[in-house]
Amino acid sequence: MRVVEAFRAAFGAEPATVWRAPGRVNLIGEHTDYNDGFVLPFAVPWGVTAAVSPRDDQTIRLLSLQAPSPEPLVLAARDDARGWTRYVVGVLAMLGDRVRGADIAVDGDVPQGAGLSSSAALEVSVASALNELHGLGMTPMEVALLGQRAENDFVGMPCGIMDQAASALCREGHALFLDCRTLGSRNVPLDLAAHGLRILIIDTRVHHEHAGGEYAKRRAECESAARTLGVDALRDVTDLGAALARLRGEERKRVEHVVTESHRVEAVVGLLRAGRPAEIGALLNASHLSLRDKYEVSSPELDVAVEAAVRGGARGARMTGGGFGGSAIALVAEDRLDTVRQAVSSAYEERSWQPPRFLPATPAPGAHPLT
Ligand code: GLA
Repeated sequence: MRVVEAFRAAFGAEPATVWRAPGRVNLIGEHTDYNDGFVLPFAVPWGVTAAVSPRDDQTIRLLSLQAPSPEPLVLAARDDARGWTRYVVGVLAMLGDRVRGADIAVDGDVPQGAGLSSSAALEVSVASALNELHGLGMTPMEVALLGQRAENDFVGMPCGIMDQAASALCREGHALFLDCRTLGSRNVPLDLAAHGLRILIIDTRVHHEHAGGEYAKRRAECESAARTLGVDALRDVTDLGAALARLRGEERKRVEHVVTESHRVEAVVGLLRAGRPAEIGALLNASHLSLRDKYEVSSPELDVAVEAAVRGGARGARMTGGGFGGSAIALVAEDRLDTVRQAVSSAYEERSWQPPRFLPATPAPGAHPLT
């Protein structure tokens, strides 16, 4: 394995363990996780492989096969972390005095900037390795929560639990139906190929600068709406009509999205369980319109990808992940894949946009050791 060779060359010893954790796409349930709602992501075949050995001192030595420099970075203090190293050092920081330093080499193949959660894959691969090496006994969900805390408190991104939970808990051939309040989850079979269907990821290759700030703003709007409605979280809204009557402006639109989106997740799970995956297309389309018009986190590139995919014969399509660029997904019959790809590519070409990238998505396994 190439990450083990790199570890050996940089640190002069074998790694004590090697873990692989994947990125994710979300089938449906967007911006519902931090509102205690439902999500339905699945792991993608791309991820991060982390080779790790513990150290007796506080030094952290880090090597990434994707970094421009082949030399490991040596961090004497956790505050020295910059860029990608923050996700790794954040995990170590959240473990506090349960761990000391570590030698870590990582190799990632999650397409960068596509919104497929490369950061969660990094956090979960490293946290899983440290969990094993230090005998911490954390469950996969506890590993996910640790990764989320690293991102919230160390990196400063107020994300929900979806990405890390997907990376830690997904199973091959399944989507993860997660209740973000109770953290109870079920692996729901997602055998699209048996129905002649595929999920196509359309990476717009555009990522808008303001995404981080807008994410925090949406989250604050939801929390403010929940306070106005006198509930702990928007999950607790049972009478949508009555709730909307008490809200105005942006908060009203945000609540409408969050509440209807969580219902759509349950409806999709119902259809998948009933063996009717072809019928989820309409719910994917409705999710996109709601994200575009009510939650206002789409972008022209995502809208054009979704519209062109549907015009080209996709059964449904939507933006996936946080929004403002990144990727869309389309549910497509196998014999329509070329037509859909063509339709999206032509739509981009007409606008003189850089060509989108197409990635086939098959539900991959969650975090697992490779040693
Ligand atoms: C990002 C966050 C997740 C989730 C999605 C939107 O991916 O990391 O926690 O909120 O956006 O569904």
